Amino acid sequence: MRIAVAGGTGLVGRYVVDAAERAGHDVVVLARSRGVDVLTGEGLAAALAGADAVIDATNSGTTLSARKATRFFEAATRHLLAAEASAGVGHHVALSIVGIDGIDASYYAGKLAQERAVAAGSVPSTIARVAQFHEFAGQLLAGMGGPIAVLPRMLMRPVAAREVGEHLVRVAESGPVGRAADLVGPRDEVLVDVARRQLAFEGARRRVIEVRLPGAYGRGLASGSLRGGADAVQGTTTFDEWLRSEDHTLR
Ligand SMILES: NC(=O)c1ccc[n+]([C@@H]2O[C@H](COP(=O)([O-])OP(=O)(O)OC[C@H]3O[C@@H](n4cnc5c(N)ncnc54)[C@H](OP(=O)(O)O)[C@@H]3O)[C@@H](O)[C@H]2O)c1
Repeated sequence: MRIAVAGGTGLVGRYVVDAAERAGHDVVVLARSRGVDVLTGEGLAAALAGADAVIDATNSGTTLSARKATRFFEAATRHLLAAEASAGVGHHVALSIVGIDGIDASYYAGKLAQERAVAAGSVPSTIARVAQFHEFAGQLLAGMGGPIAVLPRMLMRPVAAREVGEHLVRVAESGPVGRAADLVGPRDEVLVDVARRQLAFEGARRRVIEVRLPGAYGRGLASGSLRGGADAVQGTTTFDEWLRSEDHTLR
């Protein structure tokens, strides 16, 4: 297959590209650094020529603004779907997040808007929800300077981004089904615990403080819904195995 990976230079996108190439697919990367902008549509038509499937692993950055996240994911999805329809692409795969249905706030409002836009589009599609990546705590810590990191109370079941990449390629290969089985990690975790273990492993002397965020977003993070249900597919790499793996130590 010819698979276009939107966001293929990003954290999870690179694993998608890697998994697709190892499976023998012809891969094209859509990213601004490759001359393709999903917000303006620049370069999309040429990049999608001959593509059978698109996997959308783009991201709006680190914004927690519902308005900004919604604007990004709606515009990106609109441009991608329009270009896919013109190019005759048969399958759009959208990467979303497990357990966000009751959390229509902050960043998750943007992901729910993305899901609605994909489901309403004319291109046959699959929404693939996955849990937070093992890399997620590190992404948050990196975005916060200083000796003290303040993180929200967040119950999760993190999964290796490498396994997410492999999952997304299998989803693309299987053809459009509307909604794929959720993918979660092998163990329940609490965000501050994994952050502390990561800092200890890296020998970093930073304190981590947990706060309960107010509002729908904070309640959602602390509710346990992000851990997914009993019917979710489970990845195999635990957080501590990932910490010691090359995916962490060589990054
Ligand atoms: N982090 C988690 O724990 C987690 C869990 C579940 C699902 N997800 C989902 O995974 C997706 C990817 O997250 P990530 O952390 O891997 O993202 P990331 O590392 O920030 O990468 C974002 C990618 O999007 C591209 N991009 C951004 N704006 C673009 C634009 N206007 N046009 C074209 N490409 C653009 C970037 O490339 P350029 O900068 O070169 O354009 C980059 O390749 C997100 O949708 C997120 O919701 C994340």
